[in-house]
Amino acid sequence: MKMKITGTGSALPRKVVTNTQLTEWMDTSDEWIRERTGIAERHLSTGETVASLAAEACRKALEQAGKTAEEVDMILLATCSPEYLLPCCACQVQQEIGAVNAVAFDINAACSGFLFGLTTANAYIQSGMYRNILIVGSEVLSKLMDWEDRSTCILFGDGAGAVLAEAVEDGESGLVDSVQRSDGSKGMVLSCRERMISNPLYKEAAERTNQESFYVQMDGQAVYRFATRQVPACIREVLEKTGLTVEDIDLFVLHQANVRIIEAVAKRLGADIGKFPMNLDRVGNMSSATIPVLLDELNREGRLHSGDRLVLSGFGAGLTYGSCILIW
Ligand code: COA
Repeated sequence: MKMKITGTGSALPRKVVTNTQLTEWMDTSDEWIRERTGIAERHLSTGETVASLAAEACRKALEQAGKTAEEVDMILLATCSPEYLLPCCACQVQQEIGAVNAVAFDINAACSGFLFGLTTANAYIQSGMYRNILIVGSEVLSKLMDWEDRSTCILFGDGAGAVLAEAVEDGESGLVDSVQRSDGSKGMVLSCRERMISNPLYKEAAERTNQESFYVQMDGQAVYRFATRQVPACIREVLEKTGLTVEDIDLFVLHQANVRIIEAVAKRLGADIGKFPMNLDRVGNMSSATIPVLLDELNREGRLHSGDRLVLSGFGAGLTYGSCILIW
């Protein structure tokens, strides 16, 4: 059995915020943001939730695949910005779309979450346990941002993307192989604190001299160094596992963090930058949602053809990273 993507969908909040609009909120400029990141605008939630965006993306993916919600066996939802700690967001989506027969749970691997979800789904499908799996990346990161930290908040956007993956007989198309890695020793270069321990025995907040921030904290340069070193190495590893070369790949669908990171990866691989589609200028970094949103755009624009060889690669907080090869 192989896992093949048969439907894609995405959903973005209605409100678009340009770099110039950001200058009304903080001391920054369109020029600085474009030069350092490649981002021109992003969608920010004015009420859309991780669950509502995810449900809309799932409905579109199902429609394209020609499947009903009742046929879905599993929903794997990658997010690091859910509305609730419980219930998990995947169960909220199950309820919203009526996937009554699906088992549903969340995955948090930040910007690698969708890729890890895809490989998890692949393992379930290869084992023969499930046949139809929705894999979703959905984020409302704007609520995790310190809007006074101009070096971080300008990077991120809100949105969701989903794919329906089906079990198909072994053949040319489908997921070929993957590599996944985690390095918890560098976890604090990109972090966001949850609530403190607080019970009748112990009050963590009272123990602390400085109140920790509950917003995203990032050492941008450390993240940049990590991504530009580990992502090309990881792509090379998965290529070697499958006996393919950089030249054999039609498209490299990378996590959309920063145009400079993507250009550096292409350079280190010796690959043509034209093979690295990008949409981050319009949507910013949406963490787990970036890869499925870009995949959906490419798919709906007719830029994915049967037999195309794709590398998908995610990287982010954890630190986590991974790559897989898909034959479309
Ligand atoms: N507008 C204007 N100036 C800004 C700014 C903004 N939005 N944010 C920071 N600056 C200023 C800084 O205050 C600093 O000023 P100073 O030299 O007077 O102190 C200057 O710009 C340079 O800041 P620095 O943080 O060194 O910039 P940088 O070149 O490292 O770029 C990032 C910052 C965040 C764009 C860059 O580090 C990066 O892309 N890192 C990767 C982040 C990422 O992709 N994270 C998610 C991964 S999943």
